[in-house]
Amino acid sequence: MANSKYEYVKTFEVEDEVFMPNLIIIRIDGRDFLRFSQVHNFEKPNDERAVNLMNSCAVAVSEEYPDIVFSYGYSDEYSFIFKKTSKFYQRRASGKSFSPQKELRYSPSFHARAIICCASILQAYLAWRQNDCHINNQYETCLGMLIKCGKTESEAHEILKGTQKQEKNELLFQQFGINYKKLPELFRQGSCVFKTEVEDIVKYNENGAPVKRLRRKARIVHSENIAGKKFWNEHPCLVKELGDFEDDVCKIKADYVRSFLFESKLMPFTWIVIRIDGCHFHRFSEVHEFEKPNDKQALNLMNSCAVAVLEEFQDIIFSYGVSDEYSFVLQKETLFYQRRASDIVSVIVSFFTSTYVIKWKEFFPLKDLKYPPSFDGRAVCYPSSNIIRDYLAWRQVDCHINNQYNTCFWMLVMSGYSKSEAQGYLKGSQTREKNELLIQKFGIDYNQLPIMFRQGSSVFRAEAEKTMAFEKGSPAEKLRNKVIVTHCNIIEHSFWKEHPSILDEEPQIH
Ligand code: GTP
Ligand code: MG
Repeated sequence: MANSKYEYVKTFEVEDEVFMPNLIIIRIDGRDFLRFSQVHNFEKPNDERAVNLMNSCAVAVSEEYPDIVFSYGYSDEYSFIFKKTSKFYQRRASGKSFSPQKELRYSPSFHARAIICCASILQAYLAWRQNDCHINNQYETCLGMLIKCGKTESEAHEILKGTQKQEKNELLFQQFGINYKKLPELFRQGSCVFKTEVEDIVKYNENGAPVKRLRRKARIVHSENIAGKKFWNEHPCLVKELGDFEDDVCKIKADYVRSFLFESKLMPFTWIVIRIDGCHFHRFSEVHEFEKPNDKQALNLMNSCAVAVLEEFQDIIFSYGVSDEYSFVLQKETLFYQRRASDIVSVIVSFFTSTYVIKWKEFFPLKDLKYPPSFDGRAVCYPSSNIIRDYLAWRQVDCHINNQYNTCFWMLVMSGYSKSEAQGYLKGSQTREKNELLIQKFGIDYNQLPIMFRQGSSVFRAEAEKTMAFEKGSPAEKLRNKVIVTHCNIIEHSFWKEHPSILDEEPQIH
């Protein structure tokens, strides 16, 4: 297909490379899960169903991505360890129902960081995380019990200030008759997920004997010391794929482990674009029987998720979407997550994904979501408003080229051409020829097709609108920016002239 003059913006996309043969740890952590747990009335200090939901998501992630060898999680965090030969890393959020009586009130999101390391650092890392799990759980258990017996929250914190492990255990035992070691291991030790080979019976042969096949199945395990040599040696698959552990870690070296965090900070005072793209949406759209080449409801769902993203993250000033992709533009001066690429990408991707799952029924009331979608994301910096406009123009030109091609392709296929015949027919054809094909063969005026299909969708905050709010008991007028979806030409300067506040500067003519 033709290249547009905007293609040069691709040169701003730099790839972060992870040198092999290193291990990759991706740690995801719930964003503001204190609020999430309060809104959803999680039990304190541990909500078994919430922990089981996290574990079940980790099993799903582990089964989806064969490169993940081991995972460990507790509370709202999970660490996924990729084997040495892994070529990619990815994260996603999914929404399985574990609390049937509870409604999900808003979309959860997770931020992620990567650690690139070897086996001995992985060992120190796991010791660090499991120790944290233990310390937090012990503290929260004591806190919860003190509050239950009448102390205020600040009194309870005061009582626990500076106490050691042993003292907390004694407090629990002497005051409340609780033997800490007898509490569920799920809460004390956290959960590991890894795959073991299981035998499945595939069929029975003519003599009635079962025909078996080996399958890798993820399972959840709780263990006292996951960083210990003993635990590792019990599971040869872990030694084989992630490496040998040394004698047990005695001292937790948190700062040492943190120094391996892969910190990729985005250049200051540049426009940041987070572009997310549906993973294998070719398959996702087939399984969910999306209309071809454009499914209005599927696009409206994408747009509605983008609106939710802009409402949630004030630093995003504009977004543009087409097909299964969306580009989110953050303001130049943003200090969101100190401009750390991995945190920003993961929090937007996961918020978008969980919103997509939550809103699915609103847009497809008669269709079930057969499996959770996933999106990948990347962050790219653009140094000037001209270049960011060229980036957006590039995406809109792509929208036009793809839509015109796909419209012709599917019309040819629907009229009896095979897919390869239709491809051959369109090979090398120009815009004008495609328009003529549509009008002459199918009576379709391309320019009359829905504007959302031809121009994609732009989402941004419209000028402030007046709303009524109650302040100190009496009604007061308040100004609120409303996030809107439009389908317009963002290649031309007129759009940016009409909305000078988006890029916050007067556009200059090239
Ligand atoms: P990766 O992004 O590499 O994982 O592959 P992908 O399968 O997602 O393909 P890509 O992102 O290149 O293209 C998006 C794909 O999503 C299209 O090729 C379509 O198959 C599908 N898709 C997106 N929107 C629609 C739609 O409205 N209707 C239909 N039928 N398919 C759509
Ligand atoms: Mg895709």
